[in-house]
Amino acid sequence: MKKSISKILDELKRQSVLEKTKNVKHEDRMLAITEDTGRFFYAVLTGVGAKNALELGTSVGYSTLWIAAALLKNTKTPKILTVEKNPSKVARARRNFRRARILQHIKIRQGRILDVLSAMPKRAVFDFVLIDADKENGPAYFDLVLPMLKVGGIIATDNMLYPEKYRKIMKRYSDYISKKPAVRTITLPIGNGQEITVKIK
Ligand SMILES: C[S@@+](CC[C@H](N)C(=O)[O-])C[C@H]1O[C@@H](n2cnc3c(N)ncnc32)[C@H](O)[C@@H]1O
Repeated sequence: MKKSISKILDELKRQSVLEKTKNVKHEDRMLAITEDTGRFFYAVLTGVGAKNALELGTSVGYSTLWIAAALLKNTKTPKILTVEKNPSKVARARRNFRRARILQHIKIRQGRILDVLSAMPKRAVFDFVLIDADKENGPAYFDLVLPMLKVGGIIATDNMLYPEKYRKIMKRYSDYISKKPAVRTITLPIGNGQEITVKIK
């Protein structure tokens, strides 16, 4: 992994721990994937040769950095599109990407995910999608991104198991996508719980 990326990942990991001991407002918190989850994405995306990705819920860019690190193993010109509604988080993410020297590979869309996805072409261009935003719209996000994913591509969804308050809604999400003939899906106990969904046709 590029040193410039691992340096910012380490910094954000420390920040995320500190945040839990301080009085930080919910909307300003990173709420990032765990380090294990990042390592898991890194291994899988490197292994399958992923070159481009879509991320719903950037926050300050911790998960984006892991994804970028993996894609850069497969191509010199990876492309990541990431969506975030909170302007101050967008500014923090941009700064982190610049410092990690990956800003040129990342397009940040500031706005509501449903608006952004609805305006995008329904072409199958992405190798990987990470869904890590509000939980109520999970099924709607899934239906909108599935046509944008290549066959053989992967959708990962965070928070399937933790925090526990999300368990019911995420179980409904998993049941919903399990019924789709175009995918195979499984819930894995990695980090906060990952739904790993592969598009098979
Ligand atoms: C769990 S955090 C993302 C963490 C990030 N993926 C990481 O691991 O570093 C969820 C983010 O989604 C954003 N978000 C929630 N609902 C959204 C929506 N409807 N449109 C755009 N962004 C949204 C929040 O502002 C928050 O920053």
